[in-house]
Amino acid sequence: MKPQRVIFLLLFVSLLSFSSTTETSSSYSTTPPITQSFREAPEFYNSPKCPSIFSNDDQDSGADVPDDTTTTSNDGEEGFNIVNQEDEERNFICADNGVHVAMTLDLAYIRGSMAAILSILQHTSCPENLIFHFVTSASANASLLSDTIATSFPYLKFQIYPFADTAVAGLISTSIRSALDCPLNYARSYLANLLPICVRKIVYLDSDLVLVDDIVKLAATPLGDDKVLAAPEYCNANFTTYFTPTFWSNPALSLTFANRKPCYFNTGVMVIDLDRWRAGDYTTKIEEWMELQKRMRIYELGSLPPFLLVFAGNIAPVDHRWNQHGLGGDNFRGLCRDLHPGPVSLLHWSGKGKPWARLDANRPCPLDALWAPYDLLKTPFVFDS
Ligand SMILES: *[C@@H]1O[C@H](CO)[C@@H](O)[C@H](O)[C@H]1NC(C)=O
Ligand SMILES: *[C@@H]1O[C@H](CO)[C@@H](O)[C@H](O)[C@H]1NC(C)=O
Repeated sequence: MKPQRVIFLLLFVSLLSFSSTTETSSSYSTTPPITQSFREAPEFYNSPKCPSIFSNDDQDSGADVPDDTTTTSNDGEEGFNIVNQEDEERNFICADNGVHVAMTLDLAYIRGSMAAILSILQHTSCPENLIFHFVTSASANASLLSDTIATSFPYLKFQIYPFADTAVAGLISTSIRSALDCPLNYARSYLANLLPICVRKIVYLDSDLVLVDDIVKLAATPLGDDKVLAAPEYCNANFTTYFTPTFWSNPALSLTFANRKPCYFNTGVMVIDLDRWRAGDYTTKIEEWMELQKRMRIYELGSLPPFLLVFAGNIAPVDHRWNQHGLGGDNFRGLCRDLHPGPVSLLHWSGKGKPWARLDANRPCPLDALWAPYDLLKTPFVFDS
């Protein structure tokens, strides 16, 4: 108990200094101990209008048996119920009418992840139709993370995928914010490989956000005939600044944007067609830019620029209300940010400051009060005397 408390105090001190000091690489990679304990979230139920997450023919591929034939079969109710339960147990991961959500999961951000999950469940009309796909570092204690999620969300349909982050670690060059260099931050580029083939579309979400609107609407974003990815675009942002002069002065490189009208987008909220991603092998395309970045510095940030290089100017639009980003403040001074004008469906604390850290340090930004209601942490700091 004693040594644990010492580590805990150290964590507390590092959280206090979080927003005022420059980050060192160890401040992110040091895994905090799970002295954090979370409340159980209430159970959420589908509204009557929600579709079944299984379409009629996905139980037997090939056999064209309509659903009602199965339900009125002569096998007897008992038999049917057993089969049905088994199918549900086995196949919800592949449910083609489900809303599939991907997030990363680690001990450093788990409090944020829990708040995000709660906010999603609370604001959707079809909470039972959500299937969560959590990517963890292969070196993380997956059973601990899994238990933590299952304890707070006993009814959640979810699956955990270990990500061999050592593979990507060799591709990462250091950025201006060390938290961005965490290999798990790059997992979003590998979803098409990590998740089973049967998962064909995913809503990818960062862990430092909450939804205040129905994720079903976001998931239904039209991707048109050929778009791989949908995200809110910000065409007023100066796109030039995301890449170095080295990049822009080399035509062989900058020509990659020649026939596009590239705009900045934030990779913390994306709807991705995984079928199209797999068909186009976009993971390899992203990796190729990362390889190049290791040889010549073409950008400063972490996992974002490769996404811009591959997709900017060629994505399906999403209303800005779905990513009110930047609430974490700027990367240098940790200033508070205000909302962008317009309606809000999703609040995103991207940037250096995180609401849980600022709340614990008693130095919250005004908008952190909107995150607090989703905090499932039981007691932030228990010092028994
Ligand atoms: C993982 O966490 C569990 C607690 O849920 C613990 O019992 C186990 O020892 C941990 N495993 C490792 C390898 O640390
Ligand atoms: C965009 O940024 C670049 C480099 O920082 C600068 O040279 C250029 O003038 C900026 N463009 C606009 C429209 O502000």
